[in-house]
Formats: sequence, C-alpha cells, structure tokens
Amino acid sequence: MVITPAFAEQAVPRYTSYPTAPHFSSVVGAQTYASWLSSLPPEAMLSLYIHVPYCSELCFYCGCHTKAVQRRKPIEVYADRLLDEIALVGASIAPRRVVHLHWGGGTPSILGVERLLEITTKLKEVFDFTAVHEHAIELDPRHVDRPLAGALAAMGVNRASLGVQDFTPHVQEAIGRIQPFGMVEQTIAMLREVGINQVNFDLMYGLPKQTTRDVRRTAELAASLQPQRLAWFGYAHVPWFKIHQRMIDEATLPSPFERLEQAETARETLHKFGYRPIGLDHFALSDDDLAAAQRCGLLRRNFQGYTTSTADALLGFGTSAIGRLPQGFVQNASDVMSYSQAVAAGRFATVKGVALSSEDRLRGHIIERLMCDLCIDLDTIANNVADGAKIEFDAELTALASFEDEGMVRLDCRRIQVTEKGRPFMRLVAAVFDDYLQQGRARHSVAI
Ligand SMILES: C[S@@+](CC[C@H](N)C(=O)[O-])C[C@H]1O[C@@H](n2cnc3c(N)ncnc32)[C@H](O)[C@@H]1O
Ligand code: SF4
Repeated sequence: MVITPAFAEQAVPRYTSYPTAPHFSSVVGAQTYASWLSSLPPEAMLSLYIHVPYCSELCFYCGCHTKAVQRRKPIEVYADRLLDEIALVGASIAPRRVVHLHWGGGTPSILGVERLLEITTKLKEVFDFTAVHEHAIELDPRHVDRPLAGALAAMGVNRASLGVQDFTPHVQEAIGRIQPFGMVEQTIAMLREVGINQVNFDLMYGLPKQTTRDVRRTAELAASLQPQRLAWFGYAHVPWFKIHQRMIDEATLPSPFERLEQAETARETLHKFGYRPIGLDHFALSDDDLAAAQRCGLLRRNFQGYTTSTADALLGFGTSAIGRLPQGFVQNASDVMSYSQAVAAGRFATVKGVALSSEDRLRGHIIERLMCDLCIDLDTIANNVADGAKIEFDAELTALASFEDEGMVRLDCRRIQVTEKGRPFMRLVAAVFDDYLQQGRARHSVAI
C-alpha cells in the first residue's frame, strides 16, 4: 500500500472520547460530579469501571496508568478506598441497574482473591446486578492461577481480556515481558474450565525488534487459541510522558512504513482464521456480540475501546478513572494520595472533566460513528443528534479532499466513507472533526 509519508507520521488521539482527556479541565470537579450523579434518573442503566493502578513490575512499553509495587500494604489501602468510593457513589445516586462492569488497570488481580470478592460483594450490595450482561476483567497471564480463575467465576466474571502483545522470544525480551505461548494456552484452559469462555487478547505491533514475520506468527498462534476477540494496538511511544518507555532503544523500533505493513499483516492473517475487523484495531469472530453490534450499527467506543454497552452512564472508580454522564465527562485524581485522601474523607475524587456543549456532542457523535461504522452522512447526523449545533463543516470537507486523493475516503456530497485502504488511518479522518486538536494544544502518538 502506498501512502504519503505525511499521513503515516502524523500524531493524533485514539478517540476513546470527544473531547479527549487532555482537554478536560478543573472547571469540572467533585461538586459538579455530585450534581450530575444526583440528576441521573432511577431507570438509567449503568456501566461501571474499576481501575487498579498497580502491577508487580512494569513492561517497558506500558502506556497505562499504573505503577510497580512490591509491598502488600498500598494494595490493601487502595482496596479500602475503592470500598469507600463505591459506598459514596451508592449514597449519591438513584439508579441501581448495572449492565456492564469492567475491571482494568494496571493488573486488577493484584488485589488478590479475597479483596476482589469483597469489592464485588460491596458492588452487589449497592447496585442491582441482575441485568449484567458483561462482567469483564483485564488479566496478565503471568499472574493467573486456578484459585484466581475460580474466584473470578464466583464473582460472575464472564469475559477475560488477556495481555499477550507478541509471542516471539526476542520481542518479549525487548519489551521486558517474558510470557511463552504455553503460559497463555494454560491460562485460557484454566478460564474455560471454570466457565469463563469469552476471551479477548490484547496484542501489539510496532514493538522494538518486532518484524512483520513475528506479527504473522503471533497472529497464527493467537488464532490457534480461538479467542472470540482480539485487539491489535499500534505501540504508542510517548517517552516524554511515560518515562519508563526510555528503556526501549528507539533505534530498534519499526519505521512508520513497517508499522503499516505489520498492521496489514495482522489483519490479513486474522482474516484467514475467520476474524473480521472491528473499527480501528479490534477483530472478532463473526458470531461474537461485537461483530453483531457492528453489523447493526450499534457498536460504541469508550475508554475501554470498542464495546456493545448501551448504558446511559459510565461510572469510574479508582485513580484516573473516567466517567461519562449525560452532561459530560469526569475524571478522578491520578495520584493515589489525592484520590485516597478525598474518598477517605467522604468526598468525590473528581479533579477534572468537561461539560459538553451542543457542538461537542455533534462533533463527538460524528467522531464516534466514524470510528465505529467508518461511514457518516453529515446531514443525517445533524438531524438525528438532539440539540445538535448547526455547523456546515465546509472546512472539514475541504480538508478531506486530500484523503480522497489518497484513496482513503470516498466523498459523496456530505456522505463520508472511510475505505479499507483508509481504515488504519481513521484516527486522522476523525481528527478533521476535532475542533480542540485543530487548535493544537496536546501531544499524541503517531497515527499508525
Ligand atoms: C492494562 S493492560 C492489560 C492487562 C494486564 N496489565 C496485562 O498487561 O496483561 C492493557 C493493554 O494495553 C496495551 N498497551 C499498553 N501500553 C501500550 C502502549 N504504549 N501502546 C499501545 N498499547 C498499549 C497492551 O496491549 C496491554 O495489554
Ligand atoms: S502492560 Fe499490563 S502488566 Fe505490563 S505494565 Fe502495563 S498494565 Fe502492567
């Protein structure tokens, strides 16, 4: 595939929200969160996200909000604060019905079986879990054993997302994460034995010393284990922001063109095994819920990536956790100290967020539909988004002409279709509608 270098090297957000997190501000704080929570109607359906910001060691590439911890004490204290925050939120809202629960991190299982069960019990005391259709957890296969698998099943977990990255020994060495194929195979077997049959893999391209051949072999090995879904992320190298990424020798990173070739190789190899592309970087077997949601135009994108969740509000618990309410986004303090002090004192730990304007909603809707459906009709969207701002988008349509010249989009009046050639670059197409980015105030990783 021939693409002008300017496209492959541009830096843009991943659009898990709009406006994106770097544009949240302290104008939205704990008081705003309290008032937004209290105005949720009793019938609202909830999605919950619990963040655990600890790992036993840091992988060199990691861009997640986490920290290495060896001692047990900080983990115990953090578990107590999560319990405090759950009680606090429970006392502030009317709706109870949860449809989706996701444990992310970091490594949530570092809490240990007892604390995981205790927090789940607390959640079930505060919320109504009878309508939960997805209870998911991110797991590191290096830290899964039978007692943990059994506890997860007892908690009601029905989906596990395993960090895999790449199966090649020289890549695993270069990223500081040794995790042989047999270990992942055994983890899946343990999960399936206890009835957790829905499994996702997280894989990456663009890693140090990784070649296209490594990606192909990793895709073949991953497919042989038959996870229902895979996410294949492009490595986001942001050493100015994540200092430990300096452990990676930049000279060993693939070039933008190699990254593009790797992304395509992953896609082609997975296609042979029956996986269909979902949005930017996900793949699913065609009988999976995510694939069905995409076929029906019901796919959504949120902070956990692509989802089938149709909840009215997303409530985030833990440090750095982001919530979405009808009025806008909120984010908790990222440092454990500020977070803990706030919730221990009975206050929300919200430190920033954004109240959505009607223009934000319209642009956010366009960006989400582009990232999910690869297609939008500006006129239909303007009519369908309640309270949508009146914007002509002339400048945006002009900017898309260069994408059309490259064969990455097809323009038909005000209908925009991202082509298969343009799929890896959909973040760039979405960025055309990002008014905050056009004003240039944040630094991101490259588009491919
Ligand atoms: C919270 S981690 C997964 C759970 C668990 N901690 C583990 O590593 O197995 C989420 C996933 O994000 C992806 N990821 C982490 N850092 C990244 C980066 N810098 N660029 C792109 N993807 C990244 C990895 O695939 C990782 O498995
Ligand atoms: S990839 Fe997972 S295990 Fe590795 S440092 Fe990041 S959150 Fe922790």
